[in-house]
Amino acid sequence: MTDKPNRIDDRYATREKYTTLRGIYKDAQRRLSEVDWNYLSCGTGDEVTLRENTAVFDRIRFEVPLFAGISNPDTRTKVLGFDLSFPAFIAPFGGGEAVFHPEGHLAIGRAAASAGIQQMVPVAAAHSLEEVAMASPVASIFQMTFVGDEGAVLEMIERAKVAGYQYICVTYSPIRQWRERMMEDRFSIRGEEGPSNFGPGKSDAAALVELLDFTRPRWSWAQAASVIKKAPLPCIVKGVSSVRDAKASLDAGAVGLYVSNYGGRTIDRTPTTLETLPAIRDAVGKDVPVIFDSGVRRGSDIAAAIALGADAVALGRIVAYGLAADGENGVRRTLELLQREFWTTLGHLGCSTVAELSPAALAHH
Ligand SMILES: Cc1cc2nc3c(=O)[nH]c(=O)nc-3n(C[C@H](O)[C@H](O)[C@H](O)COP(=O)(O)O)c2cc1C
Repeated sequence: MTDKPNRIDDRYATREKYTTLRGIYKDAQRRLSEVDWNYLSCGTGDEVTLRENTAVFDRIRFEVPLFAGISNPDTRTKVLGFDLSFPAFIAPFGGGEAVFHPEGHLAIGRAAASAGIQQMVPVAAAHSLEEVAMASPVASIFQMTFVGDEGAVLEMIERAKVAGYQYICVTYSPIRQWRERMMEDRFSIRGEEGPSNFGPGKSDAAALVELLDFTRPRWSWAQAASVIKKAPLPCIVKGVSSVRDAKASLDAGAVGLYVSNYGGRTIDRTPTTLETLPAIRDAVGKDVPVIFDSGVRRGSDIAAAIALGADAVALGRIVAYGLAADGENGVRRTLELLQREFWTTLGHLGCSTVAELSPAALAHH
């Protein structure tokens, strides 16, 4: 780190199209059809976990010290070897991100690069992994579902390596999710043509669903471990929500953990990740990189997650809102506003660096 921290422009007066994240959210909702909005915003079942994921952040209270504030805190950090302008990655959301904007992860990648953070790219995206890698200087983590034939999974990982990705984000999904808003809409992802990670003729999301429907039995930990060990790229495991799975992931050879409940999109009535995070951090010690997502909607949420043990957050829906509102510009502005609010939170809490955030920043700890 240099001694000159990133300078943040904190004036309210701006020529930007969007002054707040709320404005971006409203625009995204206005621009998308109701069906596409449901696809973006829905959860599973009664959406209890979806609601709790954000409600748990609403219950966070900071303890603000007097005469200890910092006027220009440094939001930069290093995670998994990446220098980040603030502790965030783009979450690997896909399936139908072209529904939100035709440029999908191409636009997201350009915006992430200008914001100084890194991008996770899903296997089921609207563009092939190579196309995203060509367009985005920060497409560094490729999300791969461990399903189907082991050899095919390893081949896809090799392809990702050749394209320039540096890590694999391992995910696991044994069966289709119960998303009632999408069921009521009879939703199916459009834009089936075009280049695809699984070959021409169908979307990657459709190809994955086929694998889900026809592959039995599901993968075991032993199988996952053998692929992680053979993989030509280091792996982080996503979907960790318990100490048991944190340990199993590390035993399987993961170099990092990604604590996530997929934004409540996989199964309802699971704990929020903010509640499970501290025990996981305690169990694995301070040196294991831990990425966190599900419910991050503003800069102070990032501070709360870091204080409770994450090294960085991943940004899912909040970035999708930016994409839907105004493509690359919407994502760029979203990231800028998140970074600024995070900066302001650090300053008020008296933290001059990200590393100084600890549970002491929170009231009732
Ligand atoms: C529309 C949409 C599509 C998603 N697709 C994927 C995917 O293909 N692979 C994946 O690992 N996670 C996927 N996710 C989950 C996100 O990567 C991330 O874990 C989640 O959005 C975090 O919750 P939040 O959006 O409430 O912050 C998707 C999320 C959304 C909203």
